[in-house]
Amino acid sequence: MRAYNFAAGPAMLPEEVLYKINEELYNWRGTGVSVMEIGHRTSIFQDLLEGLQKKIKALVNIPDNYKVLFAQGGAQGQFAAIPMNLLKYNKDVDYFVTGVWSKRAADFALSYANVNIVTESIDNRMIPSKQDWKLNPHASYAYYCPNETINGVQFDSIPDVGNVPLIADMTSSILSEQFDIRKFGLIFASAQKNLGIAGVTLVVVREDLLDKNLEL
Ligand SMILES: Cc1ncc(COP(=O)(O)O)c(C=O)c1O
Repeated sequence: MRAYNFAAGPAMLPEEVLYKINEELYNWRGTGVSVMEIGHRTSIFQDLLEGLQKKIKALVNIPDNYKVLFAQGGAQGQFAAIPMNLLKYNKDVDYFVTGVWSKRAADFALSYANVNIVTESIDNRMIPSKQDWKLNPHASYAYYCPNETINGVQFDSIPDVGNVPLIADMTSSILSEQFDIRKFGLIFASAQKNLGIAGVTLVVVREDLLDKNLEL
């Protein structure tokens, strides 16, 4: 019998997946080597990436005006990459601080942005009610974490931030339920929790946000 992990940490992979990896380890797609020994710019590897992008697009129902990216640096890499890539024209940003991970993301953003805390609630493990939110309608983006893994706090719906692009750290929520990606400017999720295997971070970004990188 395999061990079972009930914790919020590393996810188990389905057995079928493990068997498939085992089967393909010495000879992936007839190459005579494993996928780990293939150059990342070879056409066969590019096919794998494109196939994965298509599968994610189908699973999450992602329209064509969004790009599906795979990044390094884990979710915390995105804590810095997001302000670095979205603040060219306006450095005012909104952060919902509802637990350890959104607090850390807001702290990272301080190096690049004027951070407005929409609402803050860490120790009492609850999402403050909407009446107490201080949203800036002119912010470059509004950031939140739908499921705070460490604090065990979850939003029960997607916050309404008007026309401000909404950003979500979905590391602990992606693929656990259907959601409407069109309500978001960008979502990201590091692998090894809801998505396996560790080492890659999924980023889905709306195309109109792609030209806003800071010139550092
Ligand atoms: C919601 C959430 N965000 C961010 C992180 C940090 O992820 P990483 O280790 O990939 O930087 C975690 C990891 O536990 C998490 O659960």
